[in-house]
Amino acid sequence: MARLRIAVAGAGLIGRAHVERIAASAECQVAAIADPAAAVADYAAGLDLPHYAGVEPMLDAVRPDGVVVATPNVLHVPQALAAISRGIPVLVEKPIADTVAEAERLVAAAERAGVPLLVGHHRRHNPILAAARAALREGRLGRLATVTALVQFLKPDPYFDTAWRREPGGGPVLINLIHAIDDLRFLVGEIAALQAFASNALRGFPVEDSAVVNLRFANGALGTITSSDSAAAPWSWELTSGEYAAYPQSREDCYLVAGTEGALAIPSLRTWRYDGERGWNRPLATGRLEVAPADPLVRQLANFCAVIRGEAAPVVPGRDAMRTLAATVAIHEAARSGGVIRLEGG
Ligand SMILES: NC(=O)c1ccc[n+]([C@@H]2O[C@H](COP(=O)([O-])OP(=O)(O)OC[C@H]3O[C@@H](n4cnc5c(N)ncnc54)[C@H](O)[C@@H]3O)[C@@H](O)[C@H]2O)c1
Repeated sequence: MARLRIAVAGAGLIGRAHVERIAASAECQVAAIADPAAAVADYAAGLDLPHYAGVEPMLDAVRPDGVVVATPNVLHVPQALAAISRGIPVLVEKPIADTVAEAERLVAAAERAGVPLLVGHHRRHNPILAAARAALREGRLGRLATVTALVQFLKPDPYFDTAWRREPGGGPVLINLIHAIDDLRFLVGEIAALQAFASNALRGFPVEDSAVVNLRFANGALGTITSSDSAAAPWSWELTSGEYAAYPQSREDCYLVAGTEGALAIPSLRTWRYDGERGWNRPLATGRLEVAPADPLVRQLANFCAVIRGEAAPVVPGRDAMRTLAATVAIHEAARSGGVIRLEGG
């Protein structure tokens, strides 16, 4: 089978992670890189890869089988549209767009053109979350009662030397909590409504440093998310999952799911249930779900290749990622208004 030719737009932090995995894959190869940065021209030359300063010239010259868009958020929609208008399948990094209206414009264009649009909520490809989801779908916890999500860590002070990270949009809600929202939608189901508080009291920047959210899911389960980028704490997917080489792994849990028949902690996948008589005065039996670890970016790429070949559906299609963005944006709206925000279908 001929290798698919995948181009990469934007070779910064995550773009280079994509380049490495495409280059290492037996299913595909790097067709070219587009990025105006001089450092990226050197990077591409070092890998002996064709380099273009602009995305559209690259797409026209190379005609790749697919393109990964890993540029700053505001460029996701115009660059993904450039690929879609040329009939080229796109894997666009998260968030799908910087506004829900822009996301809708992109999703509608992809659907009209019949061109696959995938979004890089890569955690859905992590076997840990997939195993947790399967256990919940199989009803091993019974009817879901509550989910508790923790998104807490300390971003070092120099992180905020970059101006946009101190401004609205640069805080933990749009950068980090969007992942938790997608994880909870994947695990528990659609979010029907939410309430929130946000605070900037710790760092004093225009953007929030901490936020808490109450969630009501369409299936009746309730949830909370507690987040702060200014807390010296070990509880977040970033710090617990082992997915990120840059962060020491804390071996704590960040998601606690509880149902009528049992409970599950993630990412440890520890379980609790009553084997005999039930009740809070009886001991809970503990266990652990077994899962073989795998690199979610590799699995995401495999899904992209299978979609391009017409052999699979996207694990994270554009319309799905748009709902994650809508729920995330609603957190800011809820914190501003103090009200309950109902989401589509809620
Ligand atoms: N899935 C994840 O966990 C994850 C992790 C990190 C970043 N991201 C997302 O990936 C995107 C990129 O983030 P990053 O941290 O890699 O940023 P980055 O700043 O490290 O890299 C962005 C790259 O895009 C290039 N670029 C700028 N304008 C361009 C243009 N017009 N055409 C082509 N390239 C252009 C820049 O020169 C830079 O090399 C963001 O949307 C971010 O939200 C996702």
